[in-house]
Amino acid sequence: MVCLGNLCRSPLAEGILRHLSSQKGLNWQIDSAGTGNWHVGHPPDRRSIAVAKKHGIDISGLRGRQFSTADFDQFDRIFVMDLDNYRDVLQKARSEADRLKVQLLLNDQQPVPDPWYDDALFEPVFKLIQGACERIISRG
Ligand code: 4NP
Repeated sequence: MVCLGNLCRSPLAEGILRHLSSQKGLNWQIDSAGTGNWHVGHPPDRRSIAVAKKHGIDISGLRGRQFSTADFDQFDRIFVMDLDNYRDVLQKARSEADRLKVQLLLNDQQPVPDPWYDDALFEPVFKLIQGACERIISRG
């Protein structure tokens, strides 16, 4: 799960997908990263921690890291939140096989809005990501 800061959206996506996959007893390796490096080593945004907690998911222990080319070797699928993330991740791809792993998280190709500047967006962003993660789980 990749966004810009690995602070607001992708830690939520990691936490939600982890939660759903463990409920299903799946043994998936799930992680998140940012295309930027400003928040490497930092916990998620307190508003993301709060909205996740409200829905019974603890993401307070996550720490920011930056997306790297090695992630193409570690993961089968790479979900990005918006088209800037898509472009930045594809710039690190080495092959068509790498590029084929990358897709927008939302089914309808819409971006997950960045809630960084708007407290009111955290709840709808949670719901958008939750719906996408439920689809990922149900399709395998
Ligand atoms: P995110 O939101 O990409 O959902 O983690 C952002 C968080 C921080 C910054 C940008 C986006 N920032 O510029 O620090």
